[in-house]
Amino acid sequence: MYIVKKKIKGKEYFYLRRSVREGDKVKSKNVAYLGKEKEVAEKRAEEIIKNLEKKVKKREDKEKEDGKIKLKGKMKKENEEKLEEIARIARKRGFFFQTARIYGGKAGFYTYGHLGKALKLDWENLWRKFFLQEENFYEIQSNNILPEKVFEASGHLKNFNDPLVECKKCHFRFRADQFLEDKGIEDTETLSIEKMSKIIKEKNFRCPKCGGNLGEVKWFNMMFPVPIGFNNEKGYLSPETAQASYLAFKEEFEATRNKLPLGLAIIDKAYRNEISPRQLFFRLREFTQAELQIFFDPEKINEHNNWNQVKEKKLRLKLAREKEIKEIRCEELNKKFGLPKFYLYYASKIQNFYLKILKIPLEKFRFRELSKEERAFYNKIHFDVELDLETMGGFKEVAGLHYRTDHDLKGHQKVSKENLEIYYENKRFIPHVLELSFGVDRNIWALLDVFYSVGKEGGIFKFPPKLAPYKLAVLPLIKNKKEFVELAREIYNQLKEEFSCFYDESGSIGRRYARQDEVGTPFCITIDGESLKRKDVTIRDRDTTEQIRVKIKDLKETLKKLLEKEIKFREAGKRISTRKK
Ligand code: GAP
Repeated sequence: MYIVKKKIKGKEYFYLRRSVREGDKVKSKNVAYLGKEKEVAEKRAEEIIKNLEKKVKKREDKEKEDGKIKLKGKMKKENEEKLEEIARIARKRGFFFQTARIYGGKAGFYTYGHLGKALKLDWENLWRKFFLQEENFYEIQSNNILPEKVFEASGHLKNFNDPLVECKKCHFRFRADQFLEDKGIEDTETLSIEKMSKIIKEKNFRCPKCGGNLGEVKWFNMMFPVPIGFNNEKGYLSPETAQASYLAFKEEFEATRNKLPLGLAIIDKAYRNEISPRQLFFRLREFTQAELQIFFDPEKINEHNNWNQVKEKKLRLKLAREKEIKEIRCEELNKKFGLPKFYLYYASKIQNFYLKILKIPLEKFRFRELSKEERAFYNKIHFDVELDLETMGGFKEVAGLHYRTDHDLKGHQKVSKENLEIYYENKRFIPHVLELSFGVDRNIWALLDVFYSVGKEGGIFKFPPKLAPYKLAVLPLIKNKKEFVELAREIYNQLKEEFSCFYDESGSIGRRYARQDEVGTPFCITIDGESLKRKDVTIRDRDTTEQIRVKIKDLKETLKKLLEKEIKFREAGKRISTRKK
């Protein structure tokens, strides 16, 4: 903004003006009249600019707080509203919020509140239970900071880069491929930095902030450096949990009696200095991964002990050279498309995890094969798991199945000069690795998106009981009846030993039900006048709002069966009419 002086009929008038880009032209527009005296005008201008800056900052803070994001303008209005409503409930009810908000926050960092953490723990435990039941599969725990040599060996120092472009005028830096994608350029992930620079020049794309000229696209390494010790030895926050499993392989192989396949899983933080963190949980700078590295004999890649269990199963996938999603039998994928049995067995397992355990509807799930140009530098076969998420504008990656070959162990052997070969079934070799890699936070967002539904009282989460942060809520019908409250507390104390459970006695019963629906609690237990006389309670079902009466002595068992879906709600007790007479 700048001050201009105008002379009208010999008198001087001062105005505050600003430059605005309209299409290809830059126009000057009036912001305010500043008076006739230069000094006063300068003071006023300073004040106005300060106020405007404050307003912009306030708006930006609010948008950050609300989790508002812009998605390529493709998103339908109702999906944008859905996203805003989820972010609002998430913040208000304690699922997640921006870290260090009181200091303005930093993009790409979120805190899980008490409900979000419970949901995340449930997801992680289901993952553990499902993937780590196999013989010789274990979970380990390592470090987030690793020495530089690790990443020299893994190739991250050289290859773990994103394309960065900088405005020559205002020095705003952002991701070139995302910028080009937003401009309608297709397959930007496959473009070289030279090609990106060329497109930017040819199409005369300008800085999205100030309209200035853009510089050449350069590579930017995404790892966070961390100096270690007083000699400032070079280390990095690990950008994937996988590396720690490779470092532990030799010890674990020996400790577990020299057997293959050997599965080593880690659920822990990964750190990436994303250039433009956006889309909430989809591009974070600090996030959780659940990764399973399966070390196996490469000569056995086309076999798996349980192949017969999956060979007739259909996988829902989009192959790299095709446009349509198809459902193809594992046997056909093996014979016609050359995908190895070992790989397909775990693909089928992943699909089951999403459909059977997390209850994701089939049409929202797909594998997407990545072309050679798109694949991570260490992968020979790479399918992403994608879920169709309305709030993210379509199918988005939440996990991946990667055939990493011996890339990592070989790299570590070369740099560390330690022999990482094993002796197994009369031969010496470096095992190959199949990696199942899940972004936990993206999966959590996916659950919020998929299970969000609009009820009579507004947005609610219809989580499957296994994922619901509170499985139950205990509510005395009214607060001012001592006997109700005493019995309710007694029941709550018994139930909370086994189930994650919430006690609430304040407000109308209708509002309390609505609050529990909002956070996805599957069942509410209400203690009323009848409860005292007949020693029973009502159980209310979140999804139908129907109610049944159950004896207090049978309550725990009934709830267990309901949560495990072993019995139908209507068959679990005596149905009662909730209609007002
Ligand atoms: N170890 C292999 C690996 O890290 P990746 O595709 O880079 O592969 C695995 O990451 C998963 O981690 C992704 O499928 C995604 O769910 C999650 N992820 C990756 N970058 C992320 C980020 N910046 N924010 C949140 N999640 C991310």
